[in-house]
Amino acid sequence: MQTIYLDHAATSFPKPHEVAEAMTRYVETVGATINRSIYGAALEAELTTLALREQLCRLFGLDDPSCVILTAGATMALNQAISGFLHPGDHVLVSGMEHNAVMRPLLRLPDVSCTRVPCDRTGKLELSALPALVQPNTRLFVLSHASNVCGTLQDAAAVGAFCQSHGIAFVLDGAQTAGHLDLDFGALGLSALAVPGHKGLLGPQGIGALLLTRDFAAQLTPLIAGGTGSASDAEDMPPFLPDRLEAGTPNLPGIYGWQAALTVLEQQGIRNRRARETALTRRFLDGLATIPAVSLVGTRDLDARVGVIAVDFHRLDNADASDRLATEYGVLTRCGLHCAPAAHRTLGTFPRGVVRFSLGYTTTEAEIDAALDAIRAVSAG
Ligand SMILES: Cc1ncc(COP(=O)(O)O)c(C=O)c1O
Repeated sequence: MQTIYLDHAATSFPKPHEVAEAMTRYVETVGATINRSIYGAALEAELTTLALREQLCRLFGLDDPSCVILTAGATMALNQAISGFLHPGDHVLVSGMEHNAVMRPLLRLPDVSCTRVPCDRTGKLELSALPALVQPNTRLFVLSHASNVCGTLQDAAAVGAFCQSHGIAFVLDGAQTAGHLDLDFGALGLSALAVPGHKGLLGPQGIGALLLTRDFAAQLTPLIAGGTGSASDAEDMPPFLPDRLEAGTPNLPGIYGWQAALTVLEQQGIRNRRARETALTRRFLDGLATIPAVSLVGTRDLDARVGVIAVDFHRLDNADASDRLATEYGVLTRCGLHCAPAAHRTLGTFPRGVVRFSLGYTTTEAEIDAALDAIRAVSAG
C-alpha cells in the first residue's frame, strides 16, 4: 500500500537528502565541537554553526547572528523565553489557542498570572478584546502564530504593534509558520521568536532556535548554566550572546543537518513554498466541502491559514477514522488533542478531538486527491 504522509505539522517528512548527508559527514569526518578547540575540524564546525545562525537571520529578518540561540527545539526555546523572563507578580497574555509548549511552562511558574485572550470558533484572536485585558503588571504576550490544530493564522503584526504601544514583550511561537511563510522579526514587532528545526524548516529532530532582540535577551535568566568553552576563567555565565544562553556541548549533528536543510529551503524560496502549500490547501478544502459526513474545523480563508487542516467525522469516532485512514488507505494523520487542549476548547472539539491532515511542500496533488477519496470512503461509515 502506498503511504501518504499528511503529518507535517508533527514533523516534516521526508527530509531533503542533503540533511542526512550533512549529518553523516559531520559524524564520520568532522567530529569536533565548537567554542573549545582551535584545530581545523573545530573551526569548520564553528563556521557551519555560524552559517546556520546567519541563515536563520536571513530567513527571519534579524541582523545579528549572536542573537540566534540554538536550543533543543521550540519547546526549549519557549521555556527559555517564558521561564527566563517572568518573575513572581507578573501577568501574561496568551491566546485561547496555545500549545502546551507555552501553557505548561507558564502555568507552573509561582505567582505568575495569565489571561487567555478570547478567540472565535475558527481560532482567530479577538483583537478588540485586548485593551481591556492589560493590567499594570502585564509584561509578556505569548502567541502561537498559527494553530497546530486547525491552521488558523493570527495577525501577529497587530499584536506586535499593540504590545509595543503598551510596553509588553512579545514572544511568537513560530512552530507552525516558520518555513511555511514569510516571517519578519522586525515587521511583527517581536521580542523573541521560537522555532523548531524539524517541522517547516526541514531539519532533524532535537534542534531549534530562539531568536531575540538584544533588549529582551538582556532580561533573560539562562535556563541552563554550564560550560560554554568561553570565559573559562569565570564560574558564572559569560555576559555575551549567544554563549550566555547556550550552555553545554551543542547538538552538532543537528546543526549540520539543519544548516543543510536551510540551504535547500533558501533555494526553494519561502514565497514559492507558501504559494504551493496554499494551492494544495485549496485543493484539499475544495474536495472536503463535497464530502457530506465530515466538517472542517477552522477557517476556509486561505490567506488566514496554513496547511494544517482539522476534520471532524460525523459518523465515527475521530480516532477510529484516523486509524482506518492509516491502516486501510495508508493516509497518515494525527488524531486526539494535539498537545493543545486549550485550542480544542476554543474550537468546541474538546475532548473528542479531530483528525488533523497537515501537508507540506513535497505533498503532491495526487496525494491530496487520494486522501480525499479515503476520507470519502471512511466517512461513509
Ligand atoms: C504550535 C506549537 N508550538 C510548539 C511546539 C513544540 O515544538 P517541539 O515539540 O518541536 O519542541 C509544537 C509542536 O508540535 C507546536 O505545534
